[in-house]
Amino acid sequence: DDSFDEECDYLFKAVLIGDSAVGKSNLLSRFAKDEFYLDSKPTIGVEFAYRSVKVGDKLIKAQIWDTAGQERFRAITSSYYRGALGAILVYDITRKTTFENLKKWLRELREFAASDIVIVLVGNKSDLNQSRQVEVEDGQSFAQLEGLSFLETSAKEKLNVEEAFLEMINKIY
Ligand code: GTP
Ligand code: MG
Repeated sequence: DDSFDEECDYLFKAVLIGDSAVGKSNLLSRFAKDEFYLDSKPTIGVEFAYRSVKVGDKLIKAQIWDTAGQERFRAITSSYYRGALGAILVYDITRKTTFENLKKWLRELREFAASDIVIVLVGNKSDLNQSRQVEVEDGQSFAQLEGLSFLETSAKEKLNVEEAFLEMINKIY
């Protein structure tokens, strides 16, 4: 649930960013509510969800901001990077342009977010392997070059979603 009064040891903010329709909102609904929507609508501006996670003996509450990938919202969404300790940067393995745009998203993060923000790179829609346009190795080498953690996920099939968020949380704490 997303109640504020649950006792937690740490509360932190993270952002989900990347091109439109890469699956950011579904990654978050999978992580926060274990839900997936085949026909989800583009996010307007910014939405958020909470989830608490146990790390060691600490209860950590993640407040995750899901930003709109559409270009017209860019000015609003970048203002939400402030104060974020973590970011999940998402592309769609079936659309090469979403991978090519990663550099642009990293530039934005470096301009508007804290310099020590933890970034996890996620190649989503791994269930659509037959339509793959970005090889796993391309994701891996880009991440290595930029010093990011990397995972391929499927919000639909519930593959590696938990792992991606936990990777970010564990690197922060
Ligand atoms: P914006 O809000 O516009 O930035 O898009 P978004 O990145 O939030 O994308 P969203 O989560 O709305 O998903 C876009 C479409 O991709 C929807 O039709 C989802 O059902 C679909 N989708 C998301 N994740 C997956 C996945 O892992 N596999 C498959 N096959 N489809 C997915
Ligand atoms: Mg969305």
